[in-house]
Amino acid sequence: MSIAPTESPLATRIDGKACAERVLAEVAADVASLAADGIVPGLAVVLIGEDPASQVYVRNKLRKAEAVGIRSLEYRFDDTLPQAELLSLIARLNRDPEVHGILVQLPLPDHIDEDAVIQAVDPAKDVDGFHRQNAGGLWQGLPVLAPCTPTGCLRLLKETCGELAGQHAVIVGRSNIVGKPMAALLLAADCSVTMLHSKSRDAAALCRQADIVIAAVGRPEMLDADWLKPGAVVIDVGINRIACDGDGERRHRLVGDVDFDAASRVAAAITPVPGGVGPMTIAYLMQNTVTATRLQRRQASAAALA
Ligand code: GUN
Repeated sequence: MSIAPTESPLATRIDGKACAERVLAEVAADVASLAADGIVPGLAVVLIGEDPASQVYVRNKLRKAEAVGIRSLEYRFDDTLPQAELLSLIARLNRDPEVHGILVQLPLPDHIDEDAVIQAVDPAKDVDGFHRQNAGGLWQGLPVLAPCTPTGCLRLLKETCGELAGQHAVIVGRSNIVGKPMAALLLAADCSVTMLHSKSRDAAALCRQADIVIAAVGRPEMLDADWLKPGAVVIDVGINRIACDGDGERRHRLVGDVDFDAASRVAAAITPVPGGVGPMTIAYLMQNTVTATRLQRRQASAAALA
């Protein structure tokens, strides 16, 4: 008698689009309650150059702002914009009481010092959560503006796993934008946190110990089934454009940092790319804009009383 091979069930697909819609509904309700007091949150988005991916991200951010009732202001420049002009625009936006959030889309052209630009944004308007005051405050558990992508990942994890306390989370990638703030948020949620990076020895074996895997390396499909413990929950932050052939034409498709099909046969749940983390980043940008608006209102009332 032959025994048919048993198929293990495929991982649950974590629906970032649906979760982002729930976050956006919460934000829209918050915007409506501010409107009752005559306040309209304002978000300034600055885009420099012609990077196609950045153009798509900015367009999506502006669309979602409009959908939830946030007033958006778009500033577009070609990639010869002098740094001094960008810094003076940021200084002007910092002073403008109708602008509550400022986002400068990264990456910037080589002649512009990214750190100088990030530090020029008023920390109370830093809806990206990249300013040192916010980044440092996050590690100290203060109620700061936190980066949107890791905040979105945390929400997906809470909805997927329930209780996070005591779970072992492995973060692959140590960027200031995702890896490091993700570690701070998971520690605050009482996870045990391991960070892996390009110099980690035996990274796949370390990753196989994880209950939760956050892949944020920017390398197409780098993590395969070998990196995963059966039953792990996988959040794929990567958005990589790879060339493929279609109808005899050169086309591109988007893939994550995780080999989705291979990982689906091992993991309990996994985010797709696209449709996973991407929509959550935008939803939390809108949430941060509302949080920044309320923060600035409190600061203005405190200043009036002083
Ligand atoms: N480029 C890619 N992701 C981001 C982000 O979250 N914020 C900004 N400002 N630029 C980005």
